[in-house]
Amino acid sequence: MITIHRVKDLRAAIRQQRTQGKRIGLVPTMGNLHAGHVSLVKQAKELCDYVVTSIFVNPLQFGANEDLDKYPRTLDADKEKLVAAGNHLLFTPEVSQLYPEGLERHTKVITPALSELHCGASRPGHFTGVTTVVSMLFNMVQPDVAIFGEKDFQQLAVIRKMTRDLYLPIVVESGSTLRETDGLAMSSRNGYLSAEQRQTAPLLYKLLQESAEQIENGDKDFAAISAEANNKLTQAGFVPDYFNIVNSDTLSPAVASDRDITILAAAYLGTTRLIDNISVHLG
Ligand code: PAF
Repeated sequence: MITIHRVKDLRAAIRQQRTQGKRIGLVPTMGNLHAGHVSLVKQAKELCDYVVTSIFVNPLQFGANEDLDKYPRTLDADKEKLVAAGNHLLFTPEVSQLYPEGLERHTKVITPALSELHCGASRPGHFTGVTTVVSMLFNMVQPDVAIFGEKDFQQLAVIRKMTRDLYLPIVVESGSTLRETDGLAMSSRNGYLSAEQRQTAPLLYKLLQESAEQIENGDKDFAAISAEANNKLTQAGFVPDYFNIVNSDTLSPAVASDRDITILAAAYLGTTRLIDNISVHLG
C-alpha cells in the first residue's frame, strides 16, 4: 500500500493506474477504522482493480460544539487494517492541503432540502461539509465506483442526490451496516461510551427492530410508534434526537401507502450521539 498526503501525488499515482486500464474504487473515511470500514474496502476490491481509501477528519462537517478535536485519530492502526484488507492507496491529506484559504472562503457544494432533514436539522451545515469534501475527493480521485456505509443512511441519500444532480460519472455503492454481537452498529463514536453507556447502547437498534416489526405487521400509526420508541429511549437514559419513520427514497415522513420505509434514529448517550436505521419492505 502506498500512502499519499498531497493531491498532486495522488493524481499522478491514479493516472498511472488509469493508463493501465484499471477500474478505480474509492472508500472515503474519517479513519479510526473498524470492521465496517474494512468490509467497504473489501467490497471495493470486488468491484474494482485498484482501491483508494481516504482518511480525512473533515473539519467542515463538524459544528462548533461537536467532537472535531477529540475525534479519534489512529493512523498507524488504520494503516495496518488497510494493508490487511488489500487496500492499494491511502490518501490522507492535511487540512491545509484541502482548505488552503480556510473553511469560510472555500467553495461549498450544497444539496438543499434533503440535507436539512433529520441529522441536518440538528447539525446545521453538516451535510454541506460532507458533500463539499466528497465532491472534492470525487474530483481528485475520479473513481469509477465510490462506496459508503448504510449506517449513515441520510448521508448516502444526500451523496447519491449530489452525484445525480451534478452528473458526476461515478457509481455510488453502499455497504451494509456491521454490528457488534449485541446489535450495536459499529461506529468510531462507540469508543466514547462509558462501560455503563455501552450496556445501554444496543437498545437503539432493538427499538428500531421492534418498530420495524410493528410496521411489517400492518401498524400504520407511525406517530405513535415513534413516540413509544422515544419514550423507551428516554426511560433508558438516552436523550433522543429523532426517531423518524420515512419513505426510503425521499426521506420525507412515511404515509400509509408507502412500501419502502426506513426508520432513522439518532440519540445521545451522555455527549455521544449515536445514529442507526432499519429498512422495511412491505410486500
Ligand atoms: O462517513 C464519513 O466518515 C464521512 O462523512 C465522509 C463520507 C468520509 C466524508 O467526510
